[in-house]
Amino acid sequence: MATIRRLDGLEILDSRGRPTVRATCALASGAVGIASVPSGASTGAAEALELRDRDPSRYGGLGCRKAVGHIRGEIAAALVGQTFPDQSALDRALIDLDGTPNKARLGANALLAVSLAFARACAAEQGIPLYQHFAAIHTAGSVARSLPRPTINLFSGGKHAGGQVPIQDVLVVAVAAKTVDEALATTYAVYQAAAALCLEKYGMRALTADEGGLAPPFADAEAMLGDALAAIERAGFTAGSEVSLALDVASSHFYADGRYYLGGEPLDSAGMIRHLAGWLERYPIVSLEDGLAEEDWANWPALRQAVGGRALVLGDDFLCTNPARIRRAIAAGAADALLLKVNQIGTLSEAAEACRLAQAAGWHVTVSARSGETEDDWLADLAVGWAGDHLKVGSITQSERLAKYNRLLAIEAESGLKMTG
Ligand code: PGA
Ligand code: ZN
Repeated sequence: MATIRRLDGLEILDSRGRPTVRATCALASGAVGIASVPSGASTGAAEALELRDRDPSRYGGLGCRKAVGHIRGEIAAALVGQTFPDQSALDRALIDLDGTPNKARLGANALLAVSLAFARACAAEQGIPLYQHFAAIHTAGSVARSLPRPTINLFSGGKHAGGQVPIQDVLVVAVAAKTVDEALATTYAVYQAAAALCLEKYGMRALTADEGGLAPPFADAEAMLGDALAAIERAGFTAGSEVSLALDVASSHFYADGRYYLGGEPLDSAGMIRHLAGWLERYPIVSLEDGLAEEDWANWPALRQAVGGRALVLGDDFLCTNPARIRRAIAAGAADALLLKVNQIGTLSEAAEACRLAQAAGWHVTVSARSGETEDDWLADLAVGWAGDHLKVGSITQSERLAKYNRLLAIEAESGLKMTG
């Protein structure tokens, strides 16, 4: 039970220097929560709407003054003085106030900032760690049980880099690490080996893409994967048994007219599935995100048949953290893992429903940051509280990424929880 005494919003800047939204929620008890929302670049078509000012004279139209104005104005007017028994009651009030299916009126950025700030204030009011409060939001009465295993961006392409190669991320998974601490140390070694390799092979200093991944001019996706394998070996690890790879193919962004433009001859869906299965033969890939495009629904079950059991068939743009899309994908056998991005759906409660649906179907969950992030670290608590199998935050550089890893290290140290196997 929490009564809202004050709500405020602030336009701040994300890791790309673009505006985003921060909210402050003060409760009658005196507890205060502050939270900032991230922003994507390789967004799914079915995402909730991020409200932008569209004033071309300011931040190229990306300003968030309207969204902030909604927090200070209409949302505060409706919620201040009200008492909410729990997070879902608060989120229901936000959804009803907005009144649109995709949060287009008040903005998913405004709604999520308030949803998160309220959660933080409630955790503070109870004097419990945020991850324990998130566990209770996921399922009443439950407590955090484990820590997620990080999947960490090594190489970037697609919309997060110069588009020099169509696929978006090659990530490192320290599969043999027993602790978060060890997983980060392992990944650091691979990242440094990759940076040295880039200098030798491409004559390039470690210049990084939006999420901190290295982004040299790979000849093609095959070269990107080959260099990742070489970096693992150069760092002294055995590929597969000690360090594996995860891919975010992000294929919606190179799909047009039923064809995948991966380089070389355009591929139809069956050809794309064969191509991905070929990569699984040659590289130690444990997770394959958006291997097919978000609108290529009909072929996702065939992708799962081809690679399921060897690598996770992970849906990002395909599922958009949207309970209706997840239900449909479960029924169709179209995936076996959910990439969870809270701002794709716009409130904590709806994202928790998406998470529960996926977990009840036996799917894995990867809790994910966005390419435009802030220094806020709530995502680490969310991944712990919601029993995420993996945490995908970007690379092991840049403070907006490290804020989450550092929070995960702190949770590991204070909670005694073990990382998932
Ligand atoms: P985004 O990318 O935050 O730019 O959408 C992240 C991802 O595709 O996983
Ligand atoms: Zn993705």
